[in-house]
Amino acid sequence: MKHLLSIDDLSTDEIEALFATAADMHDVQSREVKKLPALRGRTVVNMFFEDSTRTRSSFEIAGKWLSADVINVSAKGSSTSKGESLRDTVLTVCAMGVDGLVIRHPASGAAVQVSEWVDAAVVNAGDGTHEHPTQALLDAYTLQRRLGSLEGRHVAIIGDLTHSRVFRSNVQCLTRLGARVTVVAPPTLMPSGIGAWSAAAGFETSYDVDAVLPDADAVMMLRVQRERMSGAYFPSAREYTVGYGLTRNRLALLKPDVPICHPGPMNRGLEIAADAADAAQSVVLEQVSSGLAIRMAVLYHLLAGEDA
Ligand code: NCD
Repeated sequence: MKHLLSIDDLSTDEIEALFATAADMHDVQSREVKKLPALRGRTVVNMFFEDSTRTRSSFEIAGKWLSADVINVSAKGSSTSKGESLRDTVLTVCAMGVDGLVIRHPASGAAVQVSEWVDAAVVNAGDGTHEHPTQALLDAYTLQRRLGSLEGRHVAIIGDLTHSRVFRSNVQCLTRLGARVTVVAPPTLMPSGIGAWSAAAGFETSYDVDAVLPDADAVMMLRVQRERMSGAYFPSAREYTVGYGLTRNRLALLKPDVPICHPGPMNRGLEIAADAADAAQSVVLEQVSSGLAIRMAVLYHLLAGEDA
């Protein structure tokens, strides 16, 4: 594996190998001294052209705990705000001898494009509405730790599917690991062409949350991505919550202890009620700590040479 641009880049064996490494990395989090020498002498640049709290800090901590030198470049403070092209910015940074480039960009396809320009290993940390592979890996890893094998388990992914790269990566990852996936959205937020895709990839679609929840073994709520919406996709926030939010009443439809995931940031009171976000079965913070272990595993697999 040279880059991680899409879940499609990974074989099922590679996913399992990443999970095994992540399990070892997870143990580092509970140590007093959180440092492994594996990436000593390697340099990782985080280039984030979109706002981020957890993904960027997670990649930064992951690199640092593996002893890499980690530098953050964000769009606001970079020369792109002076009119420099993405290609020139990326080539400039890579001319400094960078080994790994973690990139988040609002344009779908940006990470693939960047990987064609540079020698460094490129990790896609979210490109537009396309993919977010490390998020899908950490979600599946979190669910496996909770549920054991995902084979035959039913995962409901609910929310703004049209604008979600998390959903696009998750469908691929979860179905690959044998899960049964149902995606749920209001008709206006169901991506066009999903019929052909779901038939080919073997997942189901529904407009009816209340019908799907009682059969789910895990629920993944997605954020309503207002910043990506150029029109009105639903009449009001209240209407969205009534139709598609994980409300207190809907919690009662779930089987006991069904894990509730959300990649964050959460819109409390819109797609997820506080009762659900803070429920004992919510794994939102576990996703964050699993995310660190997964990103350590990804950086390790991409950057640790034979001598590591
Ligand atoms: C997601 C993202 O940025 O795609 N968040 C994340 O990575 N933690 C989902 C979102 O923004 O809704």
